[in-house]
Amino acid sequence: MELTKHSLNLFFATLFTAFFLFTISSALKDGETCVNDKSCDSGSQCGACNGNVTELPKCIRIMPHNPVSKVRGLPFNQYSWLTTHNSFARVGHRSDTGAVLLAPMNQQDSVTAQLEAYLTSGKEYKIHVLGVLNFSVDHQNGVRGLMLDMYDFEDDIWLCHSFHGRCFNYTAFQPAINVLKEVEAFLEANPTEIVTIIIEDYVTTQSGLTKIFKASGLGKYWFPVSRMPSNGSDWPTVESMIEDNQRLVVFTSKSSKEASEGIAYVWRYLVENQYGTDGMKNGYCPNRAESAAMNSTSRSLVLFNHFPDTPDLTESCNHNSAPLVTMMNTCHDAAGKRWPNFISVDFYKRSDGEGPRAAVDFANGQLVCGCNNVDSCRAKMRFGDCNATEGSPAPAPAIGASTSTTAAGRGFKKRFADSDGQQLQLGWLKWTGNGIIVEVIGVLLLVN
Ligand SMILES: *[C@@H]1O[C@H](CO)[C@@H](O)[C@H](O)[C@H]1NC(C)=O
Ligand SMILES: *[C@@H]1O[C@H](CO)[C@@H](O)[C@H](O)[C@H]1NC(C)=O
Ligand SMILES: *[C@@H]1O[C@H](CO)[C@@H](O)[C@H](O)[C@H]1NC(C)=O
Ligand SMILES: *[C@@H]1O[C@H](CO)[C@@H](O)[C@H](O)[C@H]1NC(C)=O
Ligand SMILES: *[C@@H]1O[C@H](CO)[C@@H](O)[C@H](O)[C@H]1NC(C)=O
Ligand SMILES: *[C@@H]1O[C@H](CO)[C@@H](O)[C@H](O)[C@H]1NC(C)=O
Repeated sequence: MELTKHSLNLFFATLFTAFFLFTISSALKDGETCVNDKSCDSGSQCGACNGNVTELPKCIRIMPHNPVSKVRGLPFNQYSWLTTHNSFARVGHRSDTGAVLLAPMNQQDSVTAQLEAYLTSGKEYKIHVLGVLNFSVDHQNGVRGLMLDMYDFEDDIWLCHSFHGRCFNYTAFQPAINVLKEVEAFLEANPTEIVTIIIEDYVTTQSGLTKIFKASGLGKYWFPVSRMPSNGSDWPTVESMIEDNQRLVVFTSKSSKEASEGIAYVWRYLVENQYGTDGMKNGYCPNRAESAAMNSTSRSLVLFNHFPDTPDLTESCNHNSAPLVTMMNTCHDAAGKRWPNFISVDFYKRSDGEGPRAAVDFANGQLVCGCNNVDSCRAKMRFGDCNATEGSPAPAPAIGASTSTTAAGRGFKKRFADSDGQQLQLGWLKWTGNGIIVEVIGVLLLVN
């Protein structure tokens, strides 16, 4: 018996080591040449812009660094958030009416996947024999701003991509409450995250929006209009928004709803540049018609749109790369030297590597600590004192303390980061060719 127990321990020790070696070697960093998404670190995908055969695919980080995990005490208007334009218009979506959709599609994944964060900070995952893994994981894709078009339809409110303010079966995606429930689940699971919803509002039903927000369970996270500065002064700090659990900021494009339903009229609080193709002309950043001038400092938030009139999956890779950052600089100057709080794009995952993620990290670096990447920001540092860390490789997002937990955390982060976890497990099975590994993973899944 002794011998058996001993060999069993030895066996598990070996297995444990093999497991960590595997997970360490499996995670390729941002910028490294890769073969597929699963070979990249979590929050990254493998790719290159189309049409360039000389370029090898590399790991491209999708997920911005979480600025709030760096510094929490700043006003809401001193952070920048990755924002998806028509977040609900997902490629391949079938209309819930059953009709074939004849509407443009702007994104590649669901709102849940865009917000994605399956693991919460400091949660403990116990493995019987191997001990305790303790990982705290940031958001995975990190979208925090959603632009949603809402219409009256079928005695309900639907997410629709339509014209003349009317929704049709072939332009209707799904009832808005479905997506609001996804946001609710995210806020519930992530008590330090803040989400902003910007509604292109065609709803005329009285209290229609109020009704679906209440029914979705989002009412309890509502950030009240009374706390929003309408004269250009600073917003409350994100820390206070988190403490008060007022972590949902909602804007409507219908001014009357501020008085009637307590939903903030968007252009009273932010300026935004022209959307669509007209907003993508080099060196030029006019405000959209409904917005005050970009340099109106009586609005404390700045929204930066950068997408063409017609969403284009192939071209988005280029649009979301260098031109995005160039135009962000143009709009920064036009907005009275203000960096955008919301960076809104189509197909947010597509870029050559320096895309929406890089733009958000850059804007947050500038806003939070005066550096070129928010990853350089440290609590209590002097603004602009970037010397210590600037240029050093970006570490993986906050993971548990010791080396071994970091390695394991990364391995499992990968498993959770993938929207199709089952498939990834199979990948491990194939790769290791070891049924026992799968058994260990099984134990993990059972007890976490
Ligand atoms: C293709 O990729 C190479 C290497 O990254 C780059 O030098 C070249 O400019 C790219 N060509 C095009 C047309 O984007
Ligand atoms: C539109 O879809 C609804 C189901 O949501 C269906 O009852 C109705 O007949 C459809 N209308 C048309 C014109 O296809
Ligand atoms: C796990 O992490 C959390 C937060 O980082 C910490 O509070 C907790 O004590 C840790 N647990 C162990 C067993 O290290
Ligand atoms: C803006 O309004 C707030 C109260 O809502 C006030 O405290 C602040 O002084 C005002 N700022 C300016 C610049 O008028
Ligand atoms: C704001 O921008 C407008 C152009 O949109 C310009 O005419 C005006 O001088 C600017 N105001 C300030 C204070 O810079
Ligand atoms: C940062 O580095 C530059 C030169 O590399 C130096 O002149 C400057 O004083 C440094 N700033 C701080 C705050 O250390």
